[in-house]
Amino acid sequence: MRILLYSGKGGVGKTSVAAATGVQLARLGLRTLVMSVDPAHSLADAFALRTGLFDAKTADPFEVRPNLYVQEVNIQVELKRHWREIAGYLTTVLRTSGLGDVEAEEMAILPGMEELSAMLYVNQYRKQETYDVVVLDCAPTAESLRFVSMPTTLDWYMKHVFPMERRVLNAVRPLLNRMSPVELPADSYFANIKELFTRLDGIDTVLQDPQVTSVRLVTNAERMVLRETQRAFVYFLLHGLSVDGLIVNRVLPEEASQSFLAASRESQQQVLEEMASYFAPVPVRQVPMFAQEVVGLERLDRLADLLHELDPNPVAVTRTERPYSFDRRNGVHQVRVAMPFAEKGEVGLFMKGDELVVEVGVFRRHIGLPTTLAALVPLRATFEDRTLVVELGEPT
Ligand SMILES: Nc1ncnc2c1ncn2[C@@H]1O[C@H](COP(=O)(O)OP(=O)(O)O)[C@@H](O)[C@H]1O
Ligand SMILES: [Mg+2]
Repeated sequence: MRILLYSGKGGVGKTSVAAATGVQLARLGLRTLVMSVDPAHSLADAFALRTGLFDAKTADPFEVRPNLYVQEVNIQVELKRHWREIAGYLTTVLRTSGLGDVEAEEMAILPGMEELSAMLYVNQYRKQETYDVVVLDCAPTAESLRFVSMPTTLDWYMKHVFPMERRVLNAVRPLLNRMSPVELPADSYFANIKELFTRLDGIDTVLQDPQVTSVRLVTNAERMVLRETQRAFVYFLLHGLSVDGLIVNRVLPEEASQSFLAASRESQQQVLEEMASYFAPVPVRQVPMFAQEVVGLERLDRLADLLHELDPNPVAVTRTERPYSFDRRNGVHQVRVAMPFAEKGEVGLFMKGDELVVEVGVFRRHIGLPTTLAALVPLRATFEDRTLVVELGEPT
């Protein structure tokens, strides 16, 4: 099963592109699920699904067309389906602290529960081979990153905190239950956590496997959006995910030059040039601005036609190697940049803001660094098998 994850800033067109990609994939004969992981769901709206026909309350995949299913993860359903004991315990605690029933239930929804629920489904579909491809319509960038980093965080919790918490609680429960105003979590609470964790087994490896998971960033040709896209690109990479394509949505057509949009078009063209050089060799594809919103199957079909011209096979695995990665070897931070085209020669390195600029001959690349590395300076660089290895260290 392939997993295609669409992320980007709010409002750039993630849902439209994800939905249309789903349409395209289903037409290619693949069993396709488009799943919304954005708590502000708009997938059903993009498909113009009438309520009654599509029942978001069941939160189960809904068949829109042969081979094409849509699912919106509904937290209310998930609380009952996957989080019963955990939410139940939290609600009890919150009630004890004086909250009313409804508020307590509302507060028992923890950040991340929705994302984790989506991940439980993805893992289930993968194991049961229910679909050939799952297209994830993600929340804006920051939340998507939380989504992909969740398994690692959980893993840490399960290894370090969970066993201790459970042991300590079992030891003190008889005593504390008599004195404490707050009820302690029952064993079923821990059983629930453990069960969920077991069901997530393997998902982190899957997300980091470029043969399975590809991240596609949707963006607009605007400077502010570009900055966020560059950061997203770096951070997805840092989490070990491969970004194998960018979709620049709402590009103004040439005729816009003859209108009051002339200046916007001009500026978009500049940003587009910058994008191509920044993200190379990752392809940057352009989707024009339409006269109308992309709502309903008919318009999604048209967007799907266009996407098909840009990329006839969205499930093809095109990038198996990451353009650059961050590493730590023998206590030294390294940035490893794949440079299949670089020739041996003078390598120029300097920092510019939080970017590392690498120059090899006429070749120049800006690499956005994660905050933990941004305060360091390049110490030396070597070539290792078509990879430029830059060592970073404290400034002296
Ligand atoms: N290329 C386009 N031309 C015109 N309208 C678009 C285009 N792409 C998206 N839209 C519209 O813009 C709005 C926001 O798009 P949406 O896909 O919901 O963004 P996101 O999911 O990133 O928040 C929707 O009303 C959508 O129909
Ligand atoms: Mg959306």
